[in-house]
Amino acid sequence: MSVVLAIDAGTTGVRAAAFRDDGTAAGYSYREFTQHFPRPGWVEHDALEIWGAVQATVAELAGRLEEPIAAVGITDQRETVVAWDRRTGQPLHHAIVWQDRRTAPECDSLRAAGHEPLVRATTGLVLDPYFSATKAAWLLREGGVEVTPDLAIGTIDSWLLWNLTGGVDGGVHATEPSNASRTLLLDIRTLAWSDELLELFGVPRHSLPEVRPSSGRFGVTVAGSGLPTGLPVSGIAGDQQAALFGQACLSPGMTKNTYGTGSFVLMHIGDTCPEPVEGLLTTVAWTLADGTRAYALEGAIFVTGAAVQWLRDGLSIIERAADVAELAASVPDTGGVHLVPAFTGLGSPWWDPYARGTLLGITRGTGRGHIARAVLESIALQTRDVVLAMSEASGHPIRSLKADGGAAANDLLLQLQADHLQVPVSRPVVQETTALGAAYLAGLAEGVWASTDEITANWQLDTTFEPAVGTEAVAPTQASWARALERSRGWAADAGAEG
Ligand SMILES: Nc1ncnc2c1ncn2[C@@H]1O[C@H](COP(=O)(O)OP(=O)(O)OP(=O)(O)O)[C@@H](O)[C@H]1O
Ligand SMILES: [Mg+2]
Repeated sequence: MSVVLAIDAGTTGVRAAAFRDDGTAAGYSYREFTQHFPRPGWVEHDALEIWGAVQATVAELAGRLEEPIAAVGITDQRETVVAWDRRTGQPLHHAIVWQDRRTAPECDSLRAAGHEPLVRATTGLVLDPYFSATKAAWLLREGGVEVTPDLAIGTIDSWLLWNLTGGVDGGVHATEPSNASRTLLLDIRTLAWSDELLELFGVPRHSLPEVRPSSGRFGVTVAGSGLPTGLPVSGIAGDQQAALFGQACLSPGMTKNTYGTGSFVLMHIGDTCPEPVEGLLTTVAWTLADGTRAYALEGAIFVTGAAVQWLRDGLSIIERAADVAELAASVPDTGGVHLVPAFTGLGSPWWDPYARGTLLGITRGTGRGHIARAVLESIALQTRDVVLAMSEASGHPIRSLKADGGAAANDLLLQLQADHLQVPVSRPVVQETTALGAAYLAGLAEGVWASTDEITANWQLDTTFEPAVGTEAVAPTQASWARALERSRGWAADAGAEG
């Protein structure tokens, strides 16, 4: 039996994972990489370090696997922009990460100039520094990146694909619609780069990757990639869309939330692209080799698991992320404390790049336990805000939520989530759904799986969390949360984007 290998190039680390036919994991390897914060509100990565982490993790995993590798899939942190020189293979600047807020003033100017309706109608997104185009424009305007015939600009998936398939020696410069739909440059109805938007943001078309289906052969691995030579790279998707696929959310209405660095609620909405929805994003979920496509409605929450990391690294009140569960369970409630983790602004449904984190309601009795619990509660409450917006927009209330990602291991969090949403929250056995989704896309293209029915059949339940209390028990917290959110908004506006 063979396995499919997935490369999950996330925001904080790279994970390589191998999956068997039944969707169970045959092995993992993981490596963190450096986060660069050159100024407040700025976040950068070294693209060569990410490529090095990919080579190391895939080589380590491939060395341990007993089964041959049938196909390779790639999934990645979305929106992050890399500019490199196709002749030298060198990045021309640090990659600008999705969390980076430096282009907030530019987004304001574009909005003031009346460009938002075009952007929204064409891309399904909003004018927010989150997305790639203003970051690419910044690289060209202020980052010292010059337009030459060899300039390549892409998201992390295309940087990795290019390197895996040969780099300076004929590397393939391609991407697919789930990543491309996050750039602010793709027309999500035609699935082609939009000339109007390329002109608006000043991004040269020749630098961009070719847009191909998410599932289908992109190229084959070369020597030096860390993998055996000649393996087909046959599936690519952005991490959140890959998780939707890996969760087998394959029919309209099915919804998942991935609790990682941030949290991203995606609802499958079928194969036609609807009009933009207030507060939410419309995005391409995937396209398959047979021409089928799926769209998703998305709520993007920037900081959830990252707030747990802040408890660990910023406040040093826990040693490991998993310790938050015990500390939060040491108190029965937050004692009225709210943490709004708007550390990099607020995403859906508020879209406020100038919001910043706030800790409210502290009294003499407040201790570490309350703050830890407030962090978990903020994850559940932010998710609720997005789910409410989604129910309103789609016209059907959400009846259940599938959970995955690193923080979904936390039972207390998922219980709080079920209580605040008043619907059951289900966690699958395989919580590495991001990697699994990329593996499925690659394996489908190479005949490892015959159809998406096999993906549905593979999904296995671990635990369902049912609401344990009624609405009346959670309503007061939800009301004070709304007031706390209000206080975090607009905070950095006076200090400019760097505040
Ligand atoms: N038991 C836990 N309770 C709460 N949060 C946790 C727990 N374990 C891990 N986390 C959080 O989950 C996040 C890691 O999850 P995961 O690896 O899915 O993140 P990710 O978003 O995929 O990372 P990346 O962005 O690098 O892809 C971290 O932010 C960590 O703080
Ligand atoms: Mg991830």
